[in-house]
Amino acid sequence: MKKFYIETYGCQMNVADSQVVARKLVENGYVLAENYKDADIIMMNTCSVRANAEQRVLGRLGLFHGLKKTKKDLKIGILGCMAQRLKEKLLEENKTIDFVAGPDSYRNISELINRADSCERPLDTILSKEETYEDISPLRFNDKNHITTFVSISRGCDNMCAFCIVPYTRGRERSRNPETILREIQEAVDEGYKEVTLLGQNVDKYNWNNGEKDFAALLELVAINFPQTRIRFATSYPQHMKDEVLRVIAKYDNVCKYIHLPVQSGSNAVLKTMKRGYTREWYLDRIKAIREIVPDAAISTDIISGFCGETEKDHQDTLELMKEVAFDYAYMFKYSERPNTYAAKRLDDDVPEEVKSRRLTEIIELQNKLSYKSNSRDVGITFEVLVEAHTKKSNKQVFGRNSQNKVIIFDGTSDLIGKLVKVKVYDFTQATLFGKMI
Ligand code: SAH
Ligand code: F3S
Repeated sequence: MKKFYIETYGCQMNVADSQVVARKLVENGYVLAENYKDADIIMMNTCSVRANAEQRVLGRLGLFHGLKKTKKDLKIGILGCMAQRLKEKLLEENKTIDFVAGPDSYRNISELINRADSCERPLDTILSKEETYEDISPLRFNDKNHITTFVSISRGCDNMCAFCIVPYTRGRERSRNPETILREIQEAVDEGYKEVTLLGQNVDKYNWNNGEKDFAALLELVAINFPQTRIRFATSYPQHMKDEVLRVIAKYDNVCKYIHLPVQSGSNAVLKTMKRGYTREWYLDRIKAIREIVPDAAISTDIISGFCGETEKDHQDTLELMKEVAFDYAYMFKYSERPNTYAAKRLDDDVPEEVKSRRLTEIIELQNKLSYKSNSRDVGITFEVLVEAHTKKSNKQVFGRNSQNKVIIFDGTSDLIGKLVKVKVYDFTQATLFGKMI
């Protein structure tokens, strides 16, 4: 029996996709390896969203190349977005790679491996308009803690933001059948999971059967069907996020009060060149709606510094918007040009590297202050926390997240893992809250 190992890079969707691959392989008689050294097949499920994500994977290939010297039959596969983006080029430029599988080809993964075993170097990077892996139950081998997991509700993206490679690597937007989604959540619950994050590149465009179910309806269906399970979702899109969704979040206790709403830039000019389809004013209106309808929601965002044509004034607009919204958390990136995107083809990547870096530093420093302030407001408040695990430092200390997705550390023992407990916050840093169980 051959053993396989999968390393996952990039977004949560890749974590979920690796579970589809794992299920397919186990169904076909393969066994999951404990670590890559034991494996006969090593796969990397890759990310193309920024150049450095790709660099990491290519660097890692050196190690596997070395392994092949002592293990002649070892096969190396590249899955995911890099597979889709680079196709044959991967095989041509890296003799270490034995097979290449894009995000819509996982149904055939064991066939590909068979062909690799007979010394072909197969490739499947055909994108599908329909594939949603409806009938394949994810094998949840790679969740960090067996408490919280992911269920994908749609695949692909049709938004075509000017900077983004995702529509090219993951194909057209497709919503998954609500029945499949409910079944997969039920399976996770049966396996003991307490929290499920619904995943899509743009959850707000979820659309089953020509409008029969939109995201608000799906979220409500999930909330009602799994009253004992915490429900999260990612990622929301400012142009499409409807008040109806916010009302569902507000209505159900088990739907977490946390919204990740990527803004990318606070400048209307930059938003326009990014083809994001909304203005600064529109974004701020969505924030206002969140504050009104879900007053206890935490809000996080994504920001890109140094996009094509970004001026100092545009950058200041971003900083101003960050202050105005007072984000609780942010993921912040330097613009990285991706081949074949609209920006790569039509726009000049004209902000010098050192300017991108300096602006990013300013953005990060501001967000650090905002996160600190956000955490300071939680002191004295009692939150319900889903305990995930021990802290690294001590087995007398555990951590979990509150509904707002903030990490809270407190004294407790392992019997609390997987439980919802009440914790009162007494101290904080910019990154963490400290509490006492009550
Ligand atoms: N809708 C997706 C976005 C995927 S990419 C989601 O589910 O989150 C995640 C984030 O990476 C984007 O929001 C953006 O901030 C950043 N990003 C995407 N392309 C980028 C690029 N070319 N350079 C820098 N950052 C990028
Ligand atoms: Fe990318 Fe924009 Fe879709 S950031 S994943 S094209 S919503």
